[in-house]
Amino acid sequence: MSALMEHSNSVMHADEVLSVRNLRVSFRRQHTSVPAVQDVSFSVARGETLALVGESGSGKSVTSLGILGLLPDARRCEVQGEVWLRRRNGRAANLLAMPERELRGVRGGEAAMIFQEPMTSFNPVKTIGAQIVEAILCHNNIGRRAARTRAAELLSLVGIADPVRRLNDYPHQMSGGMRQRAMIAMAISCEPLLLIADEPTTALDVTVQAQIIELLRRIQEQSTMAMVFITHNLGVVGEIADRVMVMYSGRVTEEAPTATLFGNPRMPYTSGLLKSMPSLAAVGSGGMSALPAIAGNVPDPLSPPPGCAFAPRCEFHQASRCDLAIPAIESCGTAHKVRCVRWREIEAPSRQGPMS
Ligand SMILES: Nc1ncnc2c1ncn2[C@@H]1O[C@H](COP(=O)(O)OP(=O)(O)OP(=O)(O)O)[C@@H](O)[C@H]1O
Ligand code: SF4
Ligand SMILES: [Mg+2]
Repeated sequence: MSALMEHSNSVMHADEVLSVRNLRVSFRRQHTSVPAVQDVSFSVARGETLALVGESGSGKSVTSLGILGLLPDARRCEVQGEVWLRRRNGRAANLLAMPERELRGVRGGEAAMIFQEPMTSFNPVKTIGAQIVEAILCHNNIGRRAARTRAAELLSLVGIADPVRRLNDYPHQMSGGMRQRAMIAMAISCEPLLLIADEPTTALDVTVQAQIIELLRRIQEQSTMAMVFITHNLGVVGEIADRVMVMYSGRVTEEAPTATLFGNPRMPYTSGLLKSMPSLAAVGSGGMSALPAIAGNVPDPLSPPPGCAFAPRCEFHQASRCDLAIPAIESCGTAHKVRCVRWREIEAPSRQGPMS
């Protein structure tokens, strides 16, 4: 194994499972390169859930696909930075420097991903059981019969009744909620150290959403699995996340423990997001309408504003301060970081997060 790919443990903190450093992704379009993710750095510890939030197009999925090496090939996409994963053997490895063959062994084994729409992850012409068994056999040294027993146990664990019979179902024979559970069963079949969930509940109704969240929480309680949870719904963040990272226009704009972010957001964009999200109470009562959205649109990545990317939509914008350069991300409290040159002057505008 090359020195680039595997370092001594000193490269990561003892409790870190994932450490992303200066991740940068650009898509090649004709003669230009369009940035989608820029200088994204964060880490997730054992047993911790980090939520990734931000409007559509902010780079959440590209970040997660970049971590697991699932982006288009180098002709269409350029990826830079480092993605360190603490492997099962306790050693740290940079996934961005790992040969594809070895990376395939990591995916679905030590690191797994669940997507919003499981139809895209399941093969439509193979039964659910065959696919989960395949995943188990790929990463474990056990026989086919034992793998099938394990697959049924997993379906039962994720709340699917009559699991032995359900193993014979094709993906289209299951409801959306059941397919999502089966997807989770497949993702956790190899007891991953890291699970990335990209909007796993968005397509589901509120009751099934709550059940899936509860399921993921339970799985995590019973293991030390680290989780990156991508969602548009800050109500869900309040339910599941220990920490939150907000992205805007491909960059991290704020990061804090969940209660801190909800109670004391320092970046005007975060405050806007909080105001535009339904409270958990409203979600529960079905009263989710008429919330103020943030006015304006995300900037075109090919012609971004000169300084802060949020400037055209920000009520605190001050050209002499905000347009000079892209604000640096800086510490503004315990485990709290913000990308805003005026955070010291701005009174935390929203203390009414979705937990209220
Ligand atoms: N395969 C691709 N080719 C070219 N551009 C892409 C590709 N995938 C994503 N992008 C661009 O990268 C940017 C970030 O997209 P991304 O899918 O990460 O957003 P997101 O935060 O996940 O949004 P959503 O909440 O809608 O899922 C967008 O501008 C998008 O158009
Ligand atoms: S840097 Fe300026 S424009 Fe950007 S969020 Fe802060 S106050 Fe608003
Ligand atoms: Mg996405």
